[in-house]
Amino acid sequence: MTAFYRRSALYAAFFSPSQEIRDSINRLVRRNLGRRARRVLDPACGPGLWLAHFVKEGAEVYGCDLEESAITGAAARLPTRGARVVIGDMRRPPDELGTDFDCAINLDNSVGHLADYVDVVTHFASIRQRLTKRGIYMIGLAIREADDVIPSGVVFERGPVDIEGGGFAALRTESLGIQKTTRCERIRQITITANVPDTPPVIAEQYDLLTFTFAMLKDILLASGGFEVLGCHDATDESLPPKAFRKGAGDVVLVLRARDPAPARAGATRRSTNGSTAKKRPKTLRKAALKKGLNRA
Ligand SMILES: C[S@@+](CC[C@H](N)C(=O)[O-])C[C@H]1O[C@@H](n2cnc3c(N)ncnc32)[C@H](O)[C@@H]1O
Repeated sequence: MTAFYRRSALYAAFFSPSQEIRDSINRLVRRNLGRRARRVLDPACGPGLWLAHFVKEGAEVYGCDLEESAITGAAARLPTRGARVVIGDMRRPPDELGTDFDCAINLDNSVGHLADYVDVVTHFASIRQRLTKRGIYMIGLAIREADDVIPSGVVFERGPVDIEGGGFAALRTESLGIQKTTRCERIRQITITANVPDTPPVIAEQYDLLTFTFAMLKDILLASGGFEVLGCHDATDESLPPKAFRKGAGDVVLVLRARDPAPARAGATRRSTNGSTAKKRPKTLRKAALKKGLNRA
């Protein structure tokens, strides 16, 4: 994982959610849940910035992250009652976090950090199992088609800003565009710090984020047990305006709800040559393709 994520104070200084995006997220929750969230899960919670937001909204919050230092930062930010954060993998958030969440949130394309599309299916399936029947999953990801081009260039630049705990820092993030073979977006990032405790003066790193073609994303949602798309919103605008859920939609926040398992239909079985019967597979479910062809090179 990136060295930047290991430094909670740095991450929080640059990425604390603005009032505008908090209001937008609250609006999506109320619209799709009909009320405030009561039990919230962030499966890649970092230093717990979104969990802290939902604490203010009156929810119990739960989260995990691969980075021990991020969890230390989140635990320091969150109250001891009504909040629980542990080290864990978003592919299968630890069982100790429980189930019956009416809201899960995973913004900023954190799911793009997973190694391949099979991991993404595992992730969606485990979130699905942890949601209540009407629960929602708000997830940020990038829908890009094979021939989409992202112009290389600066996508985020800020600072110097003061860092909690001392010192100051500036951050610059560039996109190097989509890598042809892997279809990942390559990100290059430089953080310059001064007098920030236990932090080198320069952190320079590069990482790749998974992107999803529209067809692939629909297959993934189906393969993970089925999700209904309640809303699709433009993640590049903090007011999160609606955006068509379609090919090449770009950086979006999706609001998902688990679909009920399809009821078994008469005639939904087929007879094999040896006379036994088997359930029909949905035509669009291309598990083999997900396993074989769509992994990163
Ligand atoms: C963009 S940050 C998201 C922070 C957080 N959601 C918030 O409220 O600010 C991405 C986070 O994903 C974490 N991460 C990456 N891969 C992970 C995985 N497989 N399981 C859990 N966390 C992961 C990183 O350590 C990092 O903290």
